[in-house]
Amino acid sequence: AETGCLSIIVLGASGDLAKKKTFPALFNLYRQRFIQSNEFHIFGYARTEMSDDDLRSRIRRPIPALGFSIFLCYICLQSGLLQMKYTSGSYDTEEGFRLLDKQISEHEEAKSSADGSCRRLFYLALPPSVYPVVCKMIKLCCMNKCGWTRIVVEKPFGKDLESAEKLSSQIGELFGEHQIYRIDHYLGKEMVQNLLVLRFANRLFVPLWNRDNIDNVQIVFREDFGIEGRGGYFDEYGIIRDIIQNHLLQVLCLVAMEKPVSLDSEHIRDEKVKVYFFFNAELESISVEPIKDEEVVLGQYHGYRDDSKVPDHSNTPTFASIILRIHNERWEGVPFILKAGKALSSKKADIRVQFKDVPGDIFNCEKQGRNEFVMRLQPSEAMYMKLAVKQPGLEMSTVQSELDLSYKQRYHGVTIPDAYERLLLDTIHGDQQHFVRRDELKAAWDIFTPLLHRIDKGELKPISYQQGSRGPAEADELLLRAGYVRTHGYRWIPPAL
Ligand code: BG6
Repeated sequence: AETGCLSIIVLGASGDLAKKKTFPALFNLYRQRFIQSNEFHIFGYARTEMSDDDLRSRIRRPIPALGFSIFLCYICLQSGLLQMKYTSGSYDTEEGFRLLDKQISEHEEAKSSADGSCRRLFYLALPPSVYPVVCKMIKLCCMNKCGWTRIVVEKPFGKDLESAEKLSSQIGELFGEHQIYRIDHYLGKEMVQNLLVLRFANRLFVPLWNRDNIDNVQIVFREDFGIEGRGGYFDEYGIIRDIIQNHLLQVLCLVAMEKPVSLDSEHIRDEKVKVYFFFNAELESISVEPIKDEEVVLGQYHGYRDDSKVPDHSNTPTFASIILRIHNERWEGVPFILKAGKALSSKKADIRVQFKDVPGDIFNCEKQGRNEFVMRLQPSEAMYMKLAVKQPGLEMSTVQSELDLSYKQRYHGVTIPDAYERLLLDTIHGDQQHFVRRDELKAAWDIFTPLLHRIDKGELKPISYQQGSRGPAEADELLLRAGYVRTHGYRWIPPAL
């Protein structure tokens, strides 16, 4: 049942993820009345000893970048509208979890609905190394007896195929796939969720979305800051594991997949996972094609090794541009370029679908550039289609312009929810569409593991690039080799509000 008293248990409640993402998302859902105060209760659990009030003030402490949500938390907490209970205990012994269970049960007895149903959502805001033991403790001590128990986990899900599969089976022995929600927060972003609608609800795109018309696809993530305080984590993982293997690959699947039978989450995930089979997954019927060295450019920004937690000779890439190829009827021959980098000149994420040249061009449009459909995932959600139009005026010449749908301008006053808010709400509603299924995760590791192992062994080396640059020049060369045609002199200018 999707009704009845709801307990949200945040494990790792004293940590950074809980403070920055989980709690603000919960408070915002509450503020917008997606969860009602009379039915839900937050339980925090962590090793640190502290009181309920200590947790409250820890969450309340303002973080400048999150000003508004934190302010809201403050209001909710201050007014006593939100009930919150904190329990401390270790992650690998039963004692703390038994106490936690007792507290949840007491709340459930007090709040139980007419049919006695209740819901328990465990959010593991914890390092993955403790997922198995924490899941074991939940299974032993905290299972819901009158309704569902769900587990929310977040990457990194392993470091390669083997470790990811090990983690999956450890959790899989305790919980069914329908109980496990693997977050990839890119699936909670507005424009990413828009992809299905755009592709399958617009006749305009249906006949064009294939190798006959599309020349190349880019999915690009840029950040204008470095690893800042995350040196320990980042150096162990690197940009491919941090961004490309999960966030960008998920987006790619939504760009490339076939139409699902329905919007049912299993139908959608079935289609997404099929895309992987056409890369280089080990299916007997298709040949395995590893990512080619000449289609990979790795970079590391100058100054990365100055971080105290980064070894002096670190080989970890902070930038990567990788071409993937999908060998199916729709995409054969179309390069998908996945690019991600830290400490670059700008902070943005885009999907760029570049169309082929017009055959038999009488206007010499080549000079003006190609049609390109761009989805700006962030910041300032927008989509625009680059078109050749007549240069306004007396002369018959062409110029590149665009059809522009900028969300802030088109949807005045609409607040786009944070990815975590949507995803948390989905976990409460039991909708797994925007979560990563175990077979998807395995397939994603399948693709990147050989390359990652070679980088780990130092067989491929990142090229140094300046902070605040576009990344290594070799990545631009790779892009041109892949067939991308840059339009000189064209710049999209987001409309002023
Ligand atoms: C996280 C990565 O998953 O995504 C971070 O670990 C990265 O390195 C972040 O900064 C980016 O998320 P967003 O939503 O700001 O694009």
